[in-house]
Amino acid sequence: MSKADRRTVFVCQQCGKESLKWLGRCPDCQEWNSFVEVTVAATASTPRSPSPMSPPQQLSQIATESANRIPLPISEFNRVLGGGMVPGSLVLISGDPGIGKSTLLLQASAAIAESRGTVAYVSGEETQHQIKLRAERLGIAGDRLFLLAETDLGVILEQLDQLSPNLVVIDSIQTVCIPELGNTPGSVTQVRECTLRLMHWAKLNSVPAFIAGHVTKDGTIAGPRILEHIVDVVLYFEGDPFSAYRLLRSVKNRFGSTNEVGVFEMQEQGLIEVENPSKVFISQRPGEAIGSVVVSTIEGSRPLLVEIQALTTYSSFGYPRRTANGVDFNRLLLVTAVLTQRLGLRLGNQDIMVNVTGGLKINEPAADLGIALAIASSFRDSIVDPGLVAIGEVGLSGELRSASQLDRRVTEAARLGFRRCLVPKVGLKTSQLPKNIELIPVSTLREAISSALIKPKKK
Ligand SMILES: Nc1ncnc2c1ncn2[C@@H]1O[C@H](COP(=O)(O)OP(=O)(O)O)[C@@H](O)[C@H]1O
Ligand SMILES: [Mg+2]
Ligand SMILES: [Zn+2]
Repeated sequence: MSKADRRTVFVCQQCGKESLKWLGRCPDCQEWNSFVEVTVAATASTPRSPSPMSPPQQLSQIATESANRIPLPISEFNRVLGGGMVPGSLVLISGDPGIGKSTLLLQASAAIAESRGTVAYVSGEETQHQIKLRAERLGIAGDRLFLLAETDLGVILEQLDQLSPNLVVIDSIQTVCIPELGNTPGSVTQVRECTLRLMHWAKLNSVPAFIAGHVTKDGTIAGPRILEHIVDVVLYFEGDPFSAYRLLRSVKNRFGSTNEVGVFEMQEQGLIEVENPSKVFISQRPGEAIGSVVVSTIEGSRPLLVEIQALTTYSSFGYPRRTANGVDFNRLLLVTAVLTQRLGLRLGNQDIMVNVTGGLKINEPAADLGIALAIASSFRDSIVDPGLVAIGEVGLSGELRSASQLDRRVTEAARLGFRRCLVPKVGLKTSQLPKNIELIPVSTLREAISSALIKPKKK
């Protein structure tokens, strides 16, 4: 590149924000010291539009492509994608190192190779030998699954042109690079440019592509955040490293709904789909525990039962702490304030910890009642009826508000053998709800607490 073709800008390595001058703190993501000077080509090196030149078309004349979705034989994966892979779409799977991205992608590749044909699995992280070892452990024979251990994107795209695969996997985006750009692999410039070119290739060839990306807080390697604007679908692969359960969650999907969750279990033979996640999430629940409540939450299109736990302890510091794990911190503050002001629970000098088991994050208000009951149960040292499920949003005056899709929540509770279900009385239409579970309509949090807390702890 000649000097005139280049310009330098400062780019936040965390989120990709550009600035003409260096900044100590990123105004977008608030990260300190994340700006790095990078050279970029003055002329955009990728075409602005990822599709080839096409004349305008009447909307009515455009064929729908929904029928073209390629379903994966892994239904938990399908669910998160919105029913299958869309040809030409670029899907980012991001997660911590070691969470299982390569395992999931290799399993998906093998399944597609078997059912549809050629798959290209490009790895810049592992050698072909290492991948073969993993494939053996996962029981993958791998006909029509082509491995390519390469990092130069130019070479990769040439190979893809020759192979014309039905699916492309890039593991990981941080290891591929375009040597002409001069920046190190993993830098914002490289990661962004490589993603744009891959996207261009995928759209041009109508081939779905998956890219794996590590989440990292380290300033030198670009976090996948900057890619989230570019790609069509963003999936987070999450899970507690000490538990075998893994959650695949859609946070962005141009072809389907977000917040869908797929549940897997990491085993020696690879990731196994969990067919009954509600059962798993509440399986370790102690029978008669203080501070434990089961709620019925909607994740994407499916109801899930999860256990919310709370612990209140006298705070030895002047400033009581609130810790929210898996529930929204502001909802915890709201529920605590209502319990204190409207119900007279003296929580002002209590540290409060709330936890959702199974690593799930619930951000819907319908879990409020569960949070409130768990706190009240812990604070009063009394047990919540173990056969009870709680559903409802808590309003500022202590009233309970209705939750969406109540029938599906209640049905899930009944299916898992719960006997009673606390539901908001307002707007309740019992005719649409299942009959094999006792419904307890309540209008206020106070009523809910007196029906749910059954007996004081036996000492
Ligand atoms: N021999 C093994 N038996 C069981 N699980 C294994 C074995 N080897 C690796 N794993 C699991 O696979 C995980 C690594 O998955 P991987 O797909 O490489 O993650 P990522 O690509 O996200 O870094 C490890 O954290 C471990 O849980
Ligand atoms: Mg990997
Ligand atoms: Zn930033």
